[in-house]
Amino acid sequence: MSFGILKGKVGIITGALDESSIAWKTAIKAHNEGAKIILTNAPVAIRMGKIKDLAEKIQAPLIPADATSLEDITKLYEAAHSEFGQIDFLLHSIGMSLNVRKNRPYTDLNYDFLNKTYDISAISFHKMMQVGLKLDIFKEYGSIVALSYIAAQRTFGKYNDMAEAKALLESYARSFGYHLGKLKKVRVNTVSQSPTPTTAGSGVEGFDKMLHYAEKMSPLGNATADECADFIIILFSDYTKKLTMQNIYHDGGFSSVGVTEEILENFKDA
Ligand SMILES: NC(=O)c1ccc[n+]([C@@H]2O[C@H](COP(=O)([O-])OP(=O)(O)OC[C@H]3O[C@@H](n4cnc5c(N)ncnc54)[C@H](O)[C@@H]3O)[C@@H](O)[C@H]2O)c1
Repeated sequence: MSFGILKGKVGIITGALDESSIAWKTAIKAHNEGAKIILTNAPVAIRMGKIKDLAEKIQAPLIPADATSLEDITKLYEAAHSEFGQIDFLLHSIGMSLNVRKNRPYTDLNYDFLNKTYDISAISFHKMMQVGLKLDIFKEYGSIVALSYIAAQRTFGKYNDMAEAKALLESYARSFGYHLGKLKKVRVNTVSQSPTPTTAGSGVEGFDKMLHYAEKMSPLGNATADECADFIIILFSDYTKKLTMQNIYHDGGFSSVGVTEEILENFKDA
């Protein structure tokens, strides 16, 4: 499926680690839709991951950048600008919690880890917008998208400190979306995606059960990474020019459901 709806556009995609990454699938679809892409990820992810294969496949420059580093973000934008000029879209597809990784329960957080969670998973989004605004990297009616999860609104115990990171991320889309809209006519949105089997997703304790539960709670079933990428392409395109400052659930209907028959089935003897 390809309609050329990103023909002539240029964008930066963060966070492609391997074929399961939402960013990986988005990069391929954006390329197929006619866009030129600049890929970036943390230096360690570039060394350890498979992103070089993706860069080769879609002929994308690959620029290492730790998304928490203002210096790295500046270098990334400067390199992107000298290659392609201003950009039409940016995907923030970055998340990591050391508390989750090291099995620290929510009631016994390590606060140094917590600061890292916020910095990597949310403040990096603000940094990418702030540096981008200062360098005037975003084209008029450009589109900035970040990925979120419904734990920003509802409690999922094992999602841990990522819940607040996602709440902050969504708030940045509104607050920075206001300023970028006024100053540059740039859109900023978050996509709240179904649980998706990726490296980051699977790191959450009990992920398989959450995936299964969400599948049974969603009238359309869970949205896959591939479907998420399709939706992000629409958000990058000119078909959503006046959509901004929104958190959009891309979750098969999960967020609007109280309970389904499939879930109640488990209690039929109660
Ligand atoms: N998988 C899910 O269930 C799910 C659901 C909703 C939202 N999301 C969000 O989608 C986004 C993408 O995650 P994914 O599921 O594709 O997993 P993924 O593991 O493929 O991607 C996460 C990426 O973050 C990158 N990253 C981590 N620290 C970084 C840093 N300091 N600088 C730059 N990059 C850094 C990693 O290298 C990796 O490429 C994340 O924001 C995640 O929270 C995921």
